[in-house]
Amino acid sequence: MYTTIKECTHYNTHLAGGSRGADPRELAAMTMHLKQPALAVSAQNGNFASPLLATASSRLRESSAGPSRHPRSRRVCCTSGSIDVSTSVAAKERPLTVTAIVTAQAPSSMYLSRGIDHLQDLFGKTLHLQLVSSELDPRTGEEREKVKGLASMTHKEGTYEGKMSVPASFGPVGAVLVENQHHREMFIKDIKLVTGGDESTAVTFDVGSWVHSKFDNPEPRVFFTIRSYLPSQTPTGIEALRKKELETLRGDGHGERKFHERVYDYDTYNDLGDPEEDVEHKRPVLGNEEHPYPRRCRTGRPMTMLDPKTEKRSSPVYVPRDEQFSDVKGKNFSAATMKSLLHSILPSLGSILNNSECFSGFQEIDALYRDGMPLPVDVGNSFSNVISRAVRKIKDTREHVLLFELPQMIERDRFSWFGDEEFARQTLAGLNPNCIRLLMEFPIVSKLDAAVYGPPESALTKELLEKTMKGLVTVDEALEEKRLFLLDYHDIFLPYVHKVRELPDMTLYGSRTIFFLTDEGTLTPLAIELTRPQSPTKPQWKRAFTHASDATEKWLWILAKAHVLTHDSAYHQLITHWMRTHACAEPYIIATNRQLSRMHPVYRLLHPHLRYTMEINAMARDRLINADGFFEGTYWSGRYSVELSSVAYDATWQFNTEALPEDLVSRGLAVRRDDGELELAIKDYPYANDGLLIWNAIKQWASDYVDFYYKSDEDVTGDEELQAWWEEVRTKGHADKKDELWWPVCDSKDNLIQVLNIIMWVTSGYHAAVNFGLYQYAGYFPNRPTVVRKKIPVEENQEEEMKKFMARPEEFLLESLPSPMQAIKTMATLDIFSSHSPDEEYMGEYAEPAWLAEPVVKAAFHKFSGRLKAVEHTIDERNRNPENMNRCGAGIVPYELLKPFSEPGVTGMGIPNSVSI
Ligand SMILES: [Fe+2]
Repeated sequence: MYTTIKECTHYNTHLAGGSRGADPRELAAMTMHLKQPALAVSAQNGNFASPLLATASSRLRESSAGPSRHPRSRRVCCTSGSIDVSTSVAAKERPLTVTAIVTAQAPSSMYLSRGIDHLQDLFGKTLHLQLVSSELDPRTGEEREKVKGLASMTHKEGTYEGKMSVPASFGPVGAVLVENQHHREMFIKDIKLVTGGDESTAVTFDVGSWVHSKFDNPEPRVFFTIRSYLPSQTPTGIEALRKKELETLRGDGHGERKFHERVYDYDTYNDLGDPEEDVEHKRPVLGNEEHPYPRRCRTGRPMTMLDPKTEKRSSPVYVPRDEQFSDVKGKNFSAATMKSLLHSILPSLGSILNNSECFSGFQEIDALYRDGMPLPVDVGNSFSNVISRAVRKIKDTREHVLLFELPQMIERDRFSWFGDEEFARQTLAGLNPNCIRLLMEFPIVSKLDAAVYGPPESALTKELLEKTMKGLVTVDEALEEKRLFLLDYHDIFLPYVHKVRELPDMTLYGSRTIFFLTDEGTLTPLAIELTRPQSPTKPQWKRAFTHASDATEKWLWILAKAHVLTHDSAYHQLITHWMRTHACAEPYIIATNRQLSRMHPVYRLLHPHLRYTMEINAMARDRLINADGFFEGTYWSGRYSVELSSVAYDATWQFNTEALPEDLVSRGLAVRRDDGELELAIKDYPYANDGLLIWNAIKQWASDYVDFYYKSDEDVTGDEELQAWWEEVRTKGHADKKDELWWPVCDSKDNLIQVLNIIMWVTSGYHAAVNFGLYQYAGYFPNRPTVVRKKIPVEENQEEEMKKFMARPEEFLLESLPSPMQAIKTMATLDIFSSHSPDEEYMGEYAEPAWLAEPVVKAAFHKFSGRLKAVEHTIDERNRNPENMNRCGAGIVPYELLKPFSEPGVTGMGIPNSVSI
């Protein structure tokens, strides 16, 4: 009687936790398997495999395919995730022998230094395992006694095995505790529990994690099965472990974090400068009322003596152990290459090049792509190892040249960067296609304090615009017809103009550029306004520039465009790219790890989108966005770079408008019709058109996934982990914006789907669109200069500069553009930013084992994957259609940044799952 009740409970656990939403016929089949008596028969032979296990695992192996360009064992080997040894009286009388097989991967550098661990391996006591039952002991209501055993090294390197005797009444295994008895940590790829010697029916724990040495921390690690459970559905035997594991991951908020730890906590950006090294390196703390900012991972380092608000810097910077990819991913992983670049190549370039020089002519710029720049013998090899694409060995010598590949846009059309059409086209299909907005109010008026910055009226008057539109249409008509668009870098940059002008060899204006939408659906720039605000000693200066027919105005127009491009370039890198993806994603990662158990379905949905980001962000704090780092040295924003991204976060960032449709609507680039569909203001807007394909594909996948695990809105509101997660994203991760009314409330399935859709889109498609075209569009720096070093010569009191300009305008432009050092550092860095490594993980390519373990989820993922493959064809067709003049035409680079898949290298396409470079 007792056995029967227990069996029923167990069946219900499987059905409730694992197969809800599945085809009823499939459920029936699985139930029948469970009830077959074969279990007891097998047990008579000493070992057996659960029929459920056999059925589920063979089904999974058969269909765990997905595209298989780079197969990884960790992603394709999966089973139902429970081992049942509790279903018959006969079985109760015989314990079962289970073989635990642990596959470890230690990096080669670790094997070299393993010493005592290797000796210990030989004596066999190396991994202590404890199996945890999913069920409580019905007699006591307490956890069942754990089954303990040791796994020892086998003849196969990296594989450990141990036999464990499991009581037949043990119930399904819900978790494994692992104690690493080595003196050093080890990376465990997976753990399999094999019964009956048949690995094909093994229960696999998808580990993929560093396991600390017991000498660093005596607490064993816990790994759960690949079956996902909402908190309320957690098997009773592992409820306490689920809670305890999350407490461990949250830490106590004290002390300096150690290398092997896995604590996720929040902190402000207070480690960007080191005033003890140089007082000039002091930078404001970001993440407070004065400078709002997303939070980063807490390291707990002490404060500097000179400034108690600034944390001491160190390298490498702590990130939770499993966020460190360097030892697990290959050395060719893009972020690992970036590390080498930042640590060795850029400092070497600084000693080779002189920042004060300028290019003598466009021929000298072209030579960088044709002849290359000779490298000293001692640095050639090291450059070659890191940026092999850009370094060539000179035949029959030991010498190398730094030879950059000609970006595709220049290869196709040498003069494209000079043209107004390309300037306008790139606002829709270039690197920063999400700043252009519909002009909705006219006249344009600054919102800044006129008493501080001068008169707020714009120089872009009705008369001026109508003159540039040749009288064919009035401004009122153009506004009515939604034909005027604005690229606005006025109010955001104006407060920094005088500060930036105090930096050596640097200048800045606020700018506005107005575009006209032609009948053909392309944009043409009408006018640019450059503004210098008033100062205590000077009045405000502003001027409008148009593409006039005389030589002087034509060259001034070219210079004005160059200024706008530097504004767009810095805004793109610091705000569109860094702030909106890298910085804003970090709170999602921290909250997800602190509040959602590894067995939570939402954790498992988001995990691929949150991988590899924390270490690249830590690297950025160390060498890219830090005081005197890459951005400060190569972009006009200098020491104000990250501060500017805080200004933009404060003024513009909203979680809800990170959704692509809402972003388009908020910029006036789309309206939502009564039927709910979006109508674009510019029909051929490649970023929007392709982005919506990706957005909608993610939405369907997130919907299918949420529908499987949440049957009602009450399931969402009743999910305590999910509610704590969302609360923390808002109130801790984005604490400076916690009281904003635009935050979605996670109180329904639809809202949860929208929240997940935004996070998955930002970390995948959005990041790909603004990241992987960097070299393509900014690799030829005149197309997107990072600085313009000289004021425009028509600003007052520039008589000498004006004379130079009038005599040699091209030379004036070259002297304004980045120095060779700025240009070459930028090109080398952007080359790596834009590069896919051979082991890139593209969205829709690999399924997580937990997804494959659920037939409904697996089917939904395959549908998602298929949809992304279809997107590839749609994008190709769009690029071939001559009616799409913003992506198809003579010399035009097709818009491929949102094509989901790619070969390795700088390809200008491919959407990785996460922000990993
Ligand atoms: Fe990036």
